[in-house]
Amino acid sequence: MLERTVSSRRYNLHGDAIDSDDGGVSSSSDESKTKKHHHTNRASNYLSRFTTGSGYHYSCAIIAFFFLLLILGSSLIFTSRGFVCISSFDPVSRARFFGFDGLQSDFGALGVPCCRSKHGKTVEWTSKDLIKGLEEFVPIYETRPIKNNMYGMGFDHSFGLWFMARWLKPDLMIESGAFKGHSTWVLRQAMPNTPIISLSPRHPEKYLKKGPAYVDGNCTYFAGKNFVDFGSVDWPKVLHKHGILNLSQVLIFFDDHQNELKRVEQALKAGFQHLVFEDNYDTGTGDHYSLRQICDQSYIRGGGHSCFKDSDEARIRSRRKKFWEKAVDMEELCGAGEAWWGVRGYMRDNFNHSNKPISYAQHFQNSRFIESILDVYWELPPVAGPSLTHQTRYDPARAPSPIVEDGRHGLFQRLGLAKLDNSVFNGYTQMVYLQVSEP
Ligand SMILES: C[S@@+](CC[C@H](N)C(=O)[O-])C[C@H]1O[C@@H](n2cnc3c(N)ncnc32)[C@H](O)[C@@H]1O
Repeated sequence: MLERTVSSRRYNLHGDAIDSDDGGVSSSSDESKTKKHHHTNRASNYLSRFTTGSGYHYSCAIIAFFFLLLILGSSLIFTSRGFVCISSFDPVSRARFFGFDGLQSDFGALGVPCCRSKHGKTVEWTSKDLIKGLEEFVPIYETRPIKNNMYGMGFDHSFGLWFMARWLKPDLMIESGAFKGHSTWVLRQAMPNTPIISLSPRHPEKYLKKGPAYVDGNCTYFAGKNFVDFGSVDWPKVLHKHGILNLSQVLIFFDDHQNELKRVEQALKAGFQHLVFEDNYDTGTGDHYSLRQICDQSYIRGGGHSCFKDSDEARIRSRRKKFWEKAVDMEELCGAGEAWWGVRGYMRDNFNHSNKPISYAQHFQNSRFIESILDVYWELPPVAGPSLTHQTRYDPARAPSPIVEDGRHGLFQRLGLAKLDNSVFNGYTQMVYLQVSEP
């Protein structure tokens, strides 16, 4: 099961037969693939006519000619990159430049580091469950009270949170970082009768004066003058008050931009087991130290970086930087002393209001600690590929394969995703679900 998840990260989320656009399973529903196969067959049949019989030398000459033509053609394509004007974030020119197949294979092309769990356990849900979930969630999302949730969650993570809360069916949901209340609303849609505890310095009701916000009727707010940071809450007292005896029935959602190592330690100390982190920033990005950053280690595929400017990774990164707003090139990735871990060798915290340099040895120790307490690590895939969503921010090269893969327009439309504004797909940052227990 783990193997399936790990390999799906890099190649195909599904790991099983490709679903057809009507949600059924078919062995080969991707028309572009079958067409390409057809052309290759035709080309090889054509060549085999020359390679048999007496015209051996003649056929060698033809093969050499085609080979030369191929080299000439590809060198033209690559050298023209410098002078062909491609609008950086325009999805059409990007698709034209990388090619359609290029977009599909972009997912995980630079490697997608993930945290190793103690016993290789993974989540119960499959890609089919996610597709079924999308079908249900899109109409719910359309009724959201906060239509423009700038600085809060977009569609991908709203879906992820809703899906996981509904799947796990907790007795209590705790959120840290509410802003105007969009995530509170998402939790409520997943579990209509489950109590919520919300921690946020500013009460969401404050935003009601200026525009849409969501305040929940079955939620205890530690907000405004009653705000208490997650790490300072007297959890035994609060849980007792809510009649919670079994901590494995509590789901914690963090969207408070705090160092995730600190949050994991605090959650573990209180005895919580199910944690979701909204912003699981990639190495070199973001305003707090994240799980993704912690587990970016050289012994993980796609992890560890050399800062060598003349490397393949450096070349790929600088090329991708031109196309994806959040892509990170080597210059951005590497700080003083070639420190690439965290953000240029810094462990950021609290919206980057605080940060401190950490050594590579410390960074390595942090990942060993996380591995020692981790039962499950699961990154939510993006809901759909960029040729469908037209998102321009996250780089697919560092993301798992999407739930609806590029090219599957029929499914994208059938799920109602095509009706949503493109901007709601621009906030993906590898939301992650963790199950933790003492080492
Ligand atoms: C990105 S917003 C949350 C967005 C919200 N979850 C949504 O989906 O719309 C981050 C929130 O964290 C709050 N915050 C800042 N420090 C915090 C802390 N120590 N604990 C909890 N929330 C905090 C901020 O005030 C802000 O409302």
